[in-house]
Amino acid sequence: MTDLAELHREHLALGTLAASIEPLEPLSAPAAERLRRAVLMFSTRLSEHFAHEDPILSELCAAPDGSAVRLAGQARRREAESLAAATRDFTSHWARPGIIEHNTRSFASAWSVLHAALFRLVKREEGEIYPLTASAPWQPRPVLVPPETGIRELDDDHAEVFALIGGLRAAIGGGRIDTDGSSVATLAAYAERHFAREESLMEGSAYPGLEDHRQEHHRARGILMGYRNDHLDGRHVEAATVLAFLEDWLLSHIAEADQRMVAHLRASGRLPG
Ligand SMILES: [Fe+2]
Ligand SMILES: [Fe+2]
Ligand SMILES: [Fe+2]
Repeated sequence: MTDLAELHREHLALGTLAASIEPLEPLSAPAAERLRRAVLMFSTRLSEHFAHEDPILSELCAAPDGSAVRLAGQARRREAESLAAATRDFTSHWARPGIIEHNTRSFASAWSVLHAALFRLVKREEGEIYPLTASAPWQPRPVLVPPETGIRELDDDHAEVFALIGGLRAAIGGGRIDTDGSSVATLAAYAERHFAREESLMEGSAYPGLEDHRQEHHRARGILMGYRNDHLDGRHVEAATVLAFLEDWLLSHIAEADQRMVAHLRASGRLPG
């Protein structure tokens, strides 16, 4: 079952992803497309989060009748249900291609309502229910934006990894804390899924730079694994060090190796989707 620390990280990643949805006018078509994808990703992550959180709310709702815990659980569940419904409505309207750039103001105001509702809900969950706020106040920050490759699957993966990094960075609040191992494992799992996706695209298109690119992925895997092993062996691993490594590595890898791969995929007509 999902534990509270995991739910807390999901809150931070959701908050960070939400903070990256910033409709600035005038909005170009590619920027609108990026927002549209971020909305879809937000909506998927939010429903996954609610599914993870539900067993905990059920436990609270099973507390004795009239108790403060039960009332808080019931209130949060009502709020979560209404946010889920509002997000579904929002997404079914705004995730249609071509809508955001023609109605940017309406999008911005509808999004600000939803964003504020998310912020309120999470703040109450963390403040009233989960005993987590003392060590890591919930304060999402905008993410660093990874360079675009123009391939949707890859850009979504990159945005998601950066949202996760941003969430973890917000969780440690600039402080010097050791990782708890599961953060590194989560990051490594995201990275692994993404590396596998890229490697299968490269294999399918007979990319001559496949081995070099695979080696770069392998180097990042090795370093993440090293951090995880250090943690398991009881050596100190600072979360900030892991995050700084991954951010730097990803930014330069996406800007160089991934762009070279994408140029080949385009030239060989093997773009996915
Ligand atoms: Fe939550
Ligand atoms: Fe990549
Ligand atoms: Fe890559």
